[in-house]
Amino acid sequence: MDPAHSDGVGAHRMPVATMAWITDPHFDHAKLETWREWADEVIGHHPTALVLTGDISEGDDVSYQLRCMAETFDRPIYFVLGNHDFYGKSIGGTRRQIIDLARDVPQLHYLTDCGPVMLAKDAALIGDDGWGDATQGDYENTTVRSNDFELIDDFRTSSRDTWREILQREGRQSGERLSSKLASLPKSVRHVLIATHVPPFRESCWYEGKTTDENWAPFFVCGGVAEALRVAAEANPDRIHTVLCGHTHHDGDAEILPNLIVHTGYSRYGTLDIESLIELSGDGFFVPRVVEAME
Ligand SMILES: [Fe+2]
Ligand SMILES: [Fe+2]
Repeated sequence: MDPAHSDGVGAHRMPVATMAWITDPHFDHAKLETWREWADEVIGHHPTALVLTGDISEGDDVSYQLRCMAETFDRPIYFVLGNHDFYGKSIGGTRRQIIDLARDVPQLHYLTDCGPVMLAKDAALIGDDGWGDATQGDYENTTVRSNDFELIDDFRTSSRDTWREILQREGRQSGERLSSKLASLPKSVRHVLIATHVPPFRESCWYEGKTTDENWAPFFVCGGVAEALRVAAEANPDRIHTVLCGHTHHDGDAEILPNLIVHTGYSRYGTLDIESLIELSGDGFFVPRVVEAME
């Protein structure tokens, strides 16, 4: 049984909303025919909204793809950005561009720039991009050379000595933004869905059924977001915190605390998936893994 729904078989009530969760689509790697089949599949499930946890595409194609989605799916699209979405630009410049786009297209909701979205009286959605923030693992001795350093202006135009500081700043700021959103949730909220790109905890950083090692953790875990989530979950034991993330392209679930569960989604370049059709009912969020990849 999914840990988010461990309150007994048959306890599940009729959903009030079904959201299609998509992660790491990397649309720039998918053929148009694959995109069309996938879009038909999404529409066929009649979701009330889409939730997208980053790595939409790269460079200017990110805005293009978001506009295409808004035109194709006649429902709200809630999203965060992943590291690939910043390729060819700066972090701040990309965010400003996407904030402008989302303010221009009412269907698009860039969660990093949004306060809590109330999905029901007792359920809310929040989100933030997150970043592999060099707070976990062995940054000093890692052999991993992320393309982010070549392809994102903030790193490309600064010396290697400053990279760690930039990574940590991004993670810290993501955590701070999420903390204030979590703190602003009305007391009536018993279930909160948190969308982010990078797995916040090592325990949620899956690769081929195992969690990350020291070598990869600096770039695949967001300690800043983890801290925000842990503090909020401990301070609010009666509220269930359900986290959706991607980035590793390998799926798994992790129960960090009884009221803090992280779902990490699967992806493969060139294919498009629906990671889950998330149901929101009086029992909270149910995140079944259902749908096969299309290519
Ligand atoms: Fe990705
Ligand atoms: Fe990523």
